[in-house]
Amino acid sequence: MTQFFFALTNVEAEPILKQEIRLRYPELRMSYSRPGFITFKADNDSTFDPLFCRVSGVCLGKFKLSELGTERAWAYPVHSKLELPVSLKALSDQSLFKKGETVRLIVMAGADEFWVCSYVLKSHHFQTPGETSSILPREVPSRAYYKIAEAYEAFDLPFEQQETVLELGSAPGGASLFLLEQDLKILGVDPADMDPAILKRINFKQLRKPFETLAPEDFRSDVDWIISDINLPPTVVLKEVFRLLTFLGPRGLILTLKMNDLKHLEVVASIREQLRKQGFRKVELKYLPSHKKEICLLALHD
Ligand SMILES: C[S@@+](CC[C@H](N)C(=O)[O-])C[C@H]1O[C@@H](n2cnc3c(N)ncnc32)[C@H](O)[C@@H]1O
Repeated sequence: MTQFFFALTNVEAEPILKQEIRLRYPELRMSYSRPGFITFKADNDSTFDPLFCRVSGVCLGKFKLSELGTERAWAYPVHSKLELPVSLKALSDQSLFKKGETVRLIVMAGADEFWVCSYVLKSHHFQTPGETSSILPREVPSRAYYKIAEAYEAFDLPFEQQETVLELGSAPGGASLFLLEQDLKILGVDPADMDPAILKRINFKQLRKPFETLAPEDFRSDVDWIISDINLPPTVVLKEVFRLLTFLGPRGLILTLKMNDLKHLEVVASIREQLRKQGFRKVELKYLPSHKKEICLLALHD
């Protein structure tokens, strides 16, 4: 039976998403698309759960505004120049969906062009139309603030007060700011300059060196979390993180894997198994709303 699927992603991740679909779902054919919104056609029953998108699910077809009805729905315009009709905006604002429920998502792609889609709202989803960020914009040292704030919300990260975070690639300090706000202690590793406001904080210490040179004597206390936002290929970051795990025993890893080359998809495909072998019981990957060509990897022991 022919069916259609949809994916909403950030435009920077579209080439990776398309490559992922080619590799993982070779039976699917690309159908309608607009920047950030792609539909795929399957000729047989198929499952669809790609990584490199904010949200994905079933696409039920194209409708005009007059055909949409008043059933509970979230509405999302695919680009900022499109303004939702008042009635649809009101319907979307009033509609609530709980985790486990099927969301009816109306994607506005043109003046009177609405694609009705549906997906199950899972625990790691944001409760926003189009799976956009729920973190309000503010003045922060870098975009990394939003990435870790979104990961915290999506994964319900179990940080405890005064735990120690080893933050690899910490400059200029967006993520450090968020972690300090959670009352964590940060050991930031980066040869580059930190924001002076972060350096002043009593719970922040910097090791100004490449993470490849970290050794057991650099650590005076236990490390509870390893976080990385290093702008190097995933193979390099993972190799070093595995080396650090030979002398550090964190509860969890939160790694932003940079996907600057399509060949990194293979690494991502095999990483869950590798981390499970290392004793991490929960391993998840999520493309966050603030992501560009990257993905968040979470690995937890408990
Ligand atoms: C995307 S930025 C990190 C942003 C940062 N997490 C924040 O919250 O503002 C990547 C960082 O990785 C650092 N980096 C690159 N190679 C590194 C290495 N070998 N060791 C440590 N840091 C490195 C860069 O200096 C850069 O500051």
